[in-house]
Amino acid sequence: MSTAYEAFQVFEQEATAAIEAARNVADLEQVRILFLGKSKGRLKDLQSELGKATPAERPAIGQAFNDMKLRVTQLFDARVEVLSRPESQPRDFDVTLPGNLPRLGREHPITQTIEEFKEIIGRFGFTVDDGPELEDEYHNFDALNIPKDHPARDPLDNFYLAAAKTANGQPILLRSQTSTVQIRVMERTKPPVRIVSVGRVYRPDEIDRTHHQMFHQMEGLMVGEGVTMATLKSVLKMFAAAYLGEDVEIRFRPSFFPFTEPSVEVDVRWRDGWLELGGAGMVDPQVLENVGYDPETITGFAFGLGIARFCMLRHGIDDIRLFYENDLRFLKQF
Ligand code: DAH
Repeated sequence: MSTAYEAFQVFEQEATAAIEAARNVADLEQVRILFLGKSKGRLKDLQSELGKATPAERPAIGQAFNDMKLRVTQLFDARVEVLSRPESQPRDFDVTLPGNLPRLGREHPITQTIEEFKEIIGRFGFTVDDGPELEDEYHNFDALNIPKDHPARDPLDNFYLAAAKTANGQPILLRSQTSTVQIRVMERTKPPVRIVSVGRVYRPDEIDRTHHQMFHQMEGLMVGEGVTMATLKSVLKMFAAAYLGEDVEIRFRPSFFPFTEPSVEVDVRWRDGWLELGGAGMVDPQVLENVGYDPETITGFAFGLGIARFCMLRHGIDDIRLFYENDLRFLKQF
């Protein structure tokens, strides 16, 4: 009979020592499994000692077992409570030191500009639409009234895909302008239309401070009844003022594009001279006809602006290549 009491005592001593030695909640859980675990814990083994007692001994042994069990579980619960407190977690660092800030990425300056453009132009009621970067000849040239022999179609001035054609046999190219989206939107929408489309365009130009072979444009298109050149000038002036500042000076210069008549180039005063921001004009009646609109009742304007130009102006950046080289020393500044 003494063996049962001894066994209880040994158990209590060892369990107590183990509970006190636990340094964290995970340690303590191991102790619990070992000593108090319902299926394999040592307490479970001790219970069998009770079975060996004679009926006369049993009440006292049972009482002793229960008392011991209660002491151990109370000790255990108290230790859980202590070790669960934040201040009891092991501390091998100085909590008063300033933390390490996680290194956050940020949006590319071109992306930032695009987001701001969409926000500004949205105030004038333009919604954002989209078109593919891989285009067929029809949308990049034909529908935009660009003649078959126009130099803009020159294979040396475009990225044609050598090995692919559309199902109806048309050459495919990386679009050279976002004006393609004008056509795609008008083909699927009835007037009035008021959209912008922002995206990449590709031209095999010589790369220098102001030219790259891939760059971003924002195309705008407003078509409906009574849309005039005056509307175009107002929208572009307000847009430029919103992005570059109220004192910005904008100039419209007569120009030529096959898909607009009349056409203008839009310049902004910059340092001692003028910097071209893009092209614009009244959508050519032929283009309206190409998409099934009636040029007798509908007019519209369109514009195409270089995104990087604006960003360069705003931040005083003098080399477009910086945007595309992914040099973190540059990108981190935005
Ligand atoms: N697509 C022309 C370019 O890439 C820019 C442009 C000019 C777009 C006149 C237009 C426009 O929508 O009306 O140079």
